[in-house]
Amino acid sequence: MKERVLELLKNGYPDFVSGEAICRSLGISRTAVWKHIQALRGAGYDIEAVPHAGYRLVSVPDRLYPAEITRGLATAFLGHKIYHYDRVESTNRTARELASRGVPAGTLVVAEEQTGGRGRMGRGWFSPHGLGIWCSVILRPAVNPMDAPPLTMLAAVAVARALRRVTGVEAGIKWPNDLLVGEKKICGILTELSAEMERVNYLITGMGINVNIDRHQFPPELRETATSVLAETGRRVSRVALLQDLLAELEYWYTLWEREGFAPVLARWKEMSVTLHRPVKVFTWKESWEGWAEDVAPDGSLLLRLPGGERKKVVSGEVSL
Ligand code: BTN
Repeated sequence: MKERVLELLKNGYPDFVSGEAICRSLGISRTAVWKHIQALRGAGYDIEAVPHAGYRLVSVPDRLYPAEITRGLATAFLGHKIYHYDRVESTNRTARELASRGVPAGTLVVAEEQTGGRGRMGRGWFSPHGLGIWCSVILRPAVNPMDAPPLTMLAAVAVARALRRVTGVEAGIKWPNDLLVGEKKICGILTELSAEMERVNYLITGMGINVNIDRHQFPPELRETATSVLAETGRRVSRVALLQDLLAELEYWYTLWEREGFAPVLARWKEMSVTLHRPVKVFTWKESWEGWAEDVAPDGSLLLRLPGGERKKVVSGEVSL
């Protein structure tokens, strides 16, 4: 109900909406209206109340509240169910729990802060309060687990495009799915899979985008390797607007992948890649190789030409440029 009160205030913005009009349209008492106004204020909405005039929305908080994300969201299914938390250990972990309880495909889990954000290769992910987009999307693609890896590259394309459109930041993609500005990382993606032999149960695509983090707010050990939208442009951007655009992009590329396969996504990935046609070092848990990043195979593997001329197909790993 408080979301509906908020909706009325937004529709009335920048004018006052009378208490009576709210009562009438929602069929609730004056006391109930007041209670919801107080709850909204408690959530950070600045609402002016003037006797005989009513209520007026003055400002909305910089929070990724479902009511903010949903308003103006241009997707058919992605983000139609949203779980928002002020603080969680990891949105990927919460998303896993929700997915195993059967929440629908397209569910979004988003947090203002993560206390144990997870990165690739067992690393952590710096996720300070209110300064980034720390989110996970639950997908249920009807594919064999072997065909799921391209989805993580698909997410990189979606984030890169949303970043360009909403913030002007031109990030390049480092195989398979790191987003870099220069040599510094602005977004990381961690995809986790639950599957049986022949069928994916669910897939969690966790995305961490450094948005309004000032350079000095990064811990010293990350200052040389991490960046943010604020650090690159000197401007703070609306995380809500960026997340809305990201969800629309993600849905577009996901639907295209379902319809036409990975080829069109890969073509776009290659255009934004900063990994190909250069010497690279590739690490896996066990091994590492140096070579020439020749191409990416149709299944998303990196094709590396080793100094001896042999061609190596790397299915998963970490590239250093
Ligand atoms: C990487 O190491 O590059 C991947 C980082 C992924 C971080 C995101 S933040 C939201 C989601 N929840 C997590 O615990 N990790 C991912």
